[in-house]
Amino acid sequence: MKFDKVAITGGNGRLGRHVAGQLASRCEVSIVDLAEGDGGAPFHQVDITDLDGLTGAFAGHDAVIHLAAIPNPRTTTQENTFVTNVHGSWAVLAAAEEAGVKRVVVASSDSTIGLNHNPPDWGPQYLPVDEAHPLRPIEAYSLSKHVTESICRSFVDRGALEVQVIRPSHIVFPPEYPELRERGDDVENYHVWCYVAPEDVASGFVLALEREDAPFDTFILVADDGLNVRPTLEMLDERLGHIPKLAKPEKYDRLSTASILDNDHARDMLGWRPKITWRDMLKAPD
Ligand SMILES: NC(=O)c1ccc[n+]([C@@H]2O[C@H](COP(=O)([O-])OP(=O)(O)OC[C@H]3O[C@@H](n4cnc5c(N)ncnc54)[C@H](O)[C@@H]3O)[C@@H](O)[C@H]2O)c1
Repeated sequence: MKFDKVAITGGNGRLGRHVAGQLASRCEVSIVDLAEGDGGAPFHQVDITDLDGLTGAFAGHDAVIHLAAIPNPRTTTQENTFVTNVHGSWAVLAAAEEAGVKRVVVASSDSTIGLNHNPPDWGPQYLPVDEAHPLRPIEAYSLSKHVTESICRSFVDRGALEVQVIRPSHIVFPPEYPELRERGDDVENYHVWCYVAPEDVASGFVLALEREDAPFDTFILVADDGLNVRPTLEMLDERLGHIPKLAKPEKYDRLSTASILDNDHARDMLGWRPKITWRDMLKAPD
């Protein structure tokens, strides 16, 4: 492992437990979270908006994985979501810089692209949608992640930190398994049928942590296919009234249910391979 001591903000959350589990045998892990967990890793109960608390918790670490956030704008106010996620991300990066951390891997979101909600005046400009696609967030959560990405870029430009930004698609945890089949039939599905397993997202974070010589980069992590059981282009045509320009038509020739998002950058640069599909999730024991 490139780094000996890694702090994980939000390490006791749903994704954080997978990331901590995959890192545990490779380096020393400590957890920074508001919520206590049941793992054995050293734990710092610190709010991500507490700059001094974070600087103390990061002391002696060479890398940070930043996951702590309000991930679901439906559980609190838009204001609290925005303030926590933006202030928290700035404080995590500022504390990491102050503590002499070398690399931070940060959780953003595919929601920055703005395709959820099916806004009538915005859709994929081309398919599959990759990291170069324009972003148009229109609510507090996705906007907070867009601003977080700008904060990351700003800290890299200051010269002391390397930052890798991860944009996971909708991460499917076991309580959602019973709904997956229905979501695949829904032309208006909120996530445009995109999904990814937490185990696969965790492996992406580990690979981004280990990557050599990378001051800044951004990666979409999404399963190869969508939840849709009918061809993606057919369902998109029903949803949008047209099929967007195809930048990589071969993707949809090879796999008719291929995702509308592109994971090629993570495949090419990190060697990332999503291993778990929604069909595996349906077969998982209760
Ligand atoms: N779940 C998804 O589908 C999804 C998709 C894309 C991106 N993400 C991002 O991945 C990350 C992890 O998401 P998750 O689904 O595991 O969320 P989660 O809510 O399960 O975990 C978040 C963790 O952050 C902690 N936390 C929240 N506010 C905090 C604060 N102010 N100070 C310290 N700790 C705080 C919580 O206690 C929790 O343990 C988030 O940044 C989220 O935005 C999630």
